[in-house]
Amino acid sequence: MSEAEIGLIGLGTMGANLALNIAEKGFGIAVWNRTAETTHAFYAAAGASKLAEKIVPTETLEAFVAAIRPPRAIILMVPAGPIVDQQIANLTPFLEPGDLIIDAGNANFHDTDRRAADAAKGGPRFLGIGVSGGEEGARHGPSIMGGGEKQDWDRVAHILKAISAKYEGTPCATYMGPGGAGHFVKAVHNGIEYADMQMIAEVYGVMRDGMGMAASEIAEVFKSWNEGPLQSYLIEISAEVAAAKDPIGGGPMLDAILDQAGQKGTGRWTAIEAQHLAAPITVIEAAVAARNVSARLEERKAGEALFGAAPRRLEPAALDVDTLEKALICGKILCYAQGFTMIGAAANAFDWPLPLPEIARVWREGCIIRSSMLNDMATALTGNPDQNLMFAPAFAEKLKTTHGALRKAVSVAALNGLPMPALGAGLSYFDMMRTARSTANLIQGQRDFFGAHGFDRLDGADSHHGPWGSHAG
Ligand code: 6PG
Repeated sequence: MSEAEIGLIGLGTMGANLALNIAEKGFGIAVWNRTAETTHAFYAAAGASKLAEKIVPTETLEAFVAAIRPPRAIILMVPAGPIVDQQIANLTPFLEPGDLIIDAGNANFHDTDRRAADAAKGGPRFLGIGVSGGEEGARHGPSIMGGGEKQDWDRVAHILKAISAKYEGTPCATYMGPGGAGHFVKAVHNGIEYADMQMIAEVYGVMRDGMGMAASEIAEVFKSWNEGPLQSYLIEISAEVAAAKDPIGGGPMLDAILDQAGQKGTGRWTAIEAQHLAAPITVIEAAVAARNVSARLEERKAGEALFGAAPRRLEPAALDVDTLEKALICGKILCYAQGFTMIGAAANAFDWPLPLPEIARVWREGCIIRSSMLNDMATALTGNPDQNLMFAPAFAEKLKTTHGALRKAVSVAALNGLPMPALGAGLSYFDMMRTARSTANLIQGQRDFFGAHGFDRLDGADSHHGPWGSHAG
């Protein structure tokens, strides 16, 4: 093949699978990796799968760039952070005006904003795209969230849509807005991913420790939930994880896995950004914090030794799996309501035209949080994108019929020492959001007392300070 339509740098798991996906959809692709052995091994494996004729393996950046048809489009699939900047710096001397670099890694959107600003100052053109779906998604159809100049997106959209997942024929690849908008939406996706996973883990904990259910029984529950309103990739894989046997010990695989969760930081970025935006995403924040607590295994052991393990085992009639299912439905709606509200806050703060219904649509297939509920969310947001999803009639109805179950699950769990940080955060959010007269009047009184910050009165009277006298600050 003389000239490839696109290039890809970084043949790690995600990059290699994305390159095979691109080749399979009929686009010629030049590839380059820091270590040439990886490139050779990749090309040999591609030959075995008959995709080699679409692939141009290269050993130098110069040869790589020369193999791509100008104006070039080059995907970077390298670890997020300084390596991306390094790679852009190494590549730039070989590029010509109009060439486009596409960062498809899990970049912090602030970095993407900075790189897009550099591009606007005369560097290579730049797109930051969020790609979700893990290894399988990269190979057979990820969900793609694009950010940068629309004209650059339009140039490569035909390739990105072709390789993306499809929901009933509609590609899950959408332009989100300028600069870091694509990576921002991907970060919120990941925050929701953390929260979905944590909420599932919390009900797993109730079934395992509170109800004494074996992993295989829990797998059956997840499997049945996957046939109902909770149908989703994460419930589906939770069933598979719970059903798997340990190839070494022979027992349930789940029972042999250390209870310390890793993280690369995207959930944390979402929580940090939410604070900057003053967007309440309490369920996601709780999920990030729960991963941090899980990492502190030695402290947790010391805590159990000092305070004793919580009772945990429930009375037989205290909770049932149907209540847990409803609790999870309720928590999930509240979590997504928070996530979409955060996206709306970013759209206002950064002046990005973030298309909320389209975001729900692009998450329906390919990505880690794909679920049937997202289709209903897309429909609800289409009618009224600025409205908190919890007030959309279809979801308000669902909340009315499930919040009792969430309350029961969280309260029974609390009484028995079963932690539910994310579901508990969702419940408190629900209760705060249906309380017209909150307790922030006391906060205002305190602020005025120590700092003379002033307050508004309910009766509208023109008096903005309390009668605190000489004790006040
Ligand atoms: C996806 C995933 C993927 C990955 C992240 C999060 O959408 O395909 O979010 O990007 O799983 O790296 O992983 P951590 O749990 O390590 O933060």
